[in-house]
Amino acid sequence: MLAQYLRLKERHRDAILMFRLGDFYEMFFEDAERASAILDITLTARNKHDATPIPLCGVPFHSVEPYIQKLLGAGLKVAICEQVEDPRAAKGLVDRDVVRVITPGTIVEEESLDPRTASFLAVLGTDDRGYALAIADISTGEVRVAEFGGDAAADGAPHDDLVEAVGEEIARLGVKELVLSAAAQPIVERLTARAPGVFRSLIPDEWYDAGDATAWLAGVGAAETVARPGALAALGALRAYLRETYRGTLDHLRPPELYHPRETLVLDHVTRTNLALTHGASGETRGSLLAVLDRTTTPMGSRTLRRWLLAPLTSCAAIGRRLDAVETLVEQPGVRADVRAGLAGMGDVERLVGRIGTATATPRDMARLASALERVENLRARLADATDLLGEVGAALSPLPGLRVRIAALLVDDPPAALRGGPVVRDGFHPEVDELRAAARDGRGWVAAFEARERARTGIGSLKIRYNRVFGYAIEVTKPNLALVPADYVRKQTLAGAERFVTQELKDHERRLLGAEERLRQLETELFAALVTDARAEQRALAENARALGVLDTVAALAELAHDRGYVRPFLDRGDAVVIRDGRHPIVETVRGADRFVPNDCVLDETQQILLITGPNMAGKSTYLRQVALIVVMAQMGSFVPAVEARVGVVDRIFTRVGASDDLAAGDSTFMVEMRETAHILRELTDRSLVVLDEIGRGTSTFDGIAIAWAVAEHLHERGAGAKTLFATHYYELTALAREKARIRNYSVAVREWQGEIIFLRRIVPGPASRSYGIEVARLAGLPTAVLERARGLLAALERGEMLAEDRRAATTGSEAGEPRQLGLFGSQLSAVERRLRELDVARMTPIDALNELHGLVEAVRGGGDHAQERKC
Ligand SMILES: Nc1ncnc2c1ncn2[C@@H]1O[C@H](COP(=O)(O)OP(=O)(O)O)[C@@H](O)[C@H]1O
Ligand SMILES: [Mg+2]
Repeated sequence: MLAQYLRLKERHRDAILMFRLGDFYEMFFEDAERASAILDITLTARNKHDATPIPLCGVPFHSVEPYIQKLLGAGLKVAICEQVEDPRAAKGLVDRDVVRVITPGTIVEEESLDPRTASFLAVLGTDDRGYALAIADISTGEVRVAEFGGDAAADGAPHDDLVEAVGEEIARLGVKELVLSAAAQPIVERLTARAPGVFRSLIPDEWYDAGDATAWLAGVGAAETVARPGALAALGALRAYLRETYRGTLDHLRPPELYHPRETLVLDHVTRTNLALTHGASGETRGSLLAVLDRTTTPMGSRTLRRWLLAPLTSCAAIGRRLDAVETLVEQPGVRADVRAGLAGMGDVERLVGRIGTATATPRDMARLASALERVENLRARLADATDLLGEVGAALSPLPGLRVRIAALLVDDPPAALRGGPVVRDGFHPEVDELRAAARDGRGWVAAFEARERARTGIGSLKIRYNRVFGYAIEVTKPNLALVPADYVRKQTLAGAERFVTQELKDHERRLLGAEERLRQLETELFAALVTDARAEQRALAENARALGVLDTVAALAELAHDRGYVRPFLDRGDAVVIRDGRHPIVETVRGADRFVPNDCVLDETQQILLITGPNMAGKSTYLRQVALIVVMAQMGSFVPAVEARVGVVDRIFTRVGASDDLAAGDSTFMVEMRETAHILRELTDRSLVVLDEIGRGTSTFDGIAIAWAVAEHLHERGAGAKTLFATHYYELTALAREKARIRNYSVAVREWQGEIIFLRRIVPGPASRSYGIEVARLAGLPTAVLERARGLLAALERGEMLAEDRRAATTGSEAGEPRQLGLFGSQLSAVERRLRELDVARMTPIDALNELHGLVEAVRGGGDHAQERKC
């Protein structure tokens, strides 16, 4: 046996080998040492008393799932070794083989999967112009191919930004396992930078067999889908990898669907996080947009919704189709209610169909399939008059009445979860099953009669017939009655207080009875397997059902939400404008309650490209920025939006950058991170992008920060027609930009002071925020009068454009003191005077005010002269 073990282990050195012995999976040697530590189970030894005992540990076969999960979680693969011949038929040692290698991307067991997220395995392919990812969810049979193409860089290798894009896609899909060849080793760190937990598997180059993939595609009528050599090779490798790991039947893999990730609205990981698309601040789904949107009633709906959310569309026509369907269900509450009721409780039909494909479906699964098909029939009828997307969904639903009838005829009501867990085949379905059942029933009746008969014959009132899986039937007699045992009883087993016996008659009967039961189980297994095979013949229709149900559920959920929360249908076009009237933040509104949320407008267009939003802390700047971005995301995924009216010129990417103080995990290198992200935005954005910059430049000193924010805003403005930008800042200095750049506009969040308290009005209004606002807040907070006075003085000087040279000198060392003044960046002293002049409302000034003002201006200009001299030396 050990030789057998070692031979198998040799072929699976990179996995923990679980070796089936009876009711246990045993692990030996180093595997036992590693696994026992990870699983927290006892490490023992085989041949304990030998000179070299063999380390050993084991787990029960019927509850192995959680153990496998734990080993995978620790970054290990698990090879499952089973007996592959019937022990009764075996001559000598039973033959064993590895039947499956389990990895995070190939696990299909229901209890190991999250129903709301897909479980993706991705294989990386490379060719001279780019990369491809072959992506499969084995639990549902979904296969997709993503191509990342471009022109080669100077050295013939694909560009770096393609690597970045592949990494983004891996993170976006939440890929569980990335399979790649050794040649891709150098880029693996960058590929997984955004998805640190992803399991990596290396495969040999030979597995990248484009020929195999071509044959497969031709076989499933999808020959035209993929033309790139890299993508074909990746599909070939996917199949090779599954042959090696999964090993079972994979008939349910659907024809691959080709897509280009950059043809959807690109939401990189920073943006997904900043906008809390799938996770709130806690890292949980709570507080995310997904949590607000997900009113689906089935797991396939939930997964479809997540997919729509993370890859909104950029084609107005395609978005319009979804919106039409949502609108229909908003306007027809009766249909919506019926659809949702029809879907609710249907369960995970998609993964169930996956289990039919892998021949692992249980009797309970098949019963659920039958009831789902019945619901499918009703849904189809309900959608009979629908048009467009809903009509297509209806048409894609196949109730498969023949299959349903077969399932209902064969299965008992409420069949067990496991094949051997009780009767599976309905009485009257199959004559032999009925006969065997009768025989078994009679057999059990016979046992009761036999017991009564033997009690009477021996006079032992406590005599009992016992059954045990190992020893079979026996007559049990307690110790005090042993003297009464007749001569034809043969002793079989001795217990603490009793002895067990058999007679020839009992043995004969046992053979008949067990024979019937065994035959019954075998027959039921065969009949059930035939049913699953029948269902497998309908694989395509079943998979299509599952897909259509996912779409229907998503559309109905979005309609339900739109109705409940008073969302409106957005209007999408290819124009450059985003115009929102009375928009709300979908998440904040849900948390706070709609009546406690103040709606705001937003106009971004050719004349208002960049909105510069100022206002004190806690005024609502960040909320406003995110609200606009979230409305765009929702519109492009095909959802109604929280607004009174919304027009969205389709956006190709949304970039967000949130400044240091708003970051949860701020560290030393915050500024570096911030600048890297900003650089990324400036490099990648197009005229169709939406950029959200929240307090950028905060990670460094004020002047660096202002300078960088200023330059970034200028750059965004100067670049062609320019990306639509929302820019929140507490740097008042930046509001001067609006006067210099035609398409930059100042907005602020209105606040009011009332009876010594600050009231946040939450309204976005044109014009910059009040400069002295911070000091007002400080006063209300109780800062000493002397400090406030000094602050006012400093502020006044700043407003006159003075830089308080003496203060700065005091704060810096001698050699730096004479350096050019940084504020000079934002205009000369004269322009500060100009600024002041522009702000004067002469009509409302008294002569004294005017005189004072003039005095101040003269002072400011003279002060500037001093500084100018200072700068020269
Ligand atoms: N329009 C609004 N209506 C109601 N509450 C709002 C609104 N905008 C923001 N808030 C609330 O105000 C608080 C501060 O908002 P935030 O956007 O973080 O401010 P800022 O970025 O200006 O510091 C948050 O708790 C938010 O829930
Ligand atoms: Mg903020």
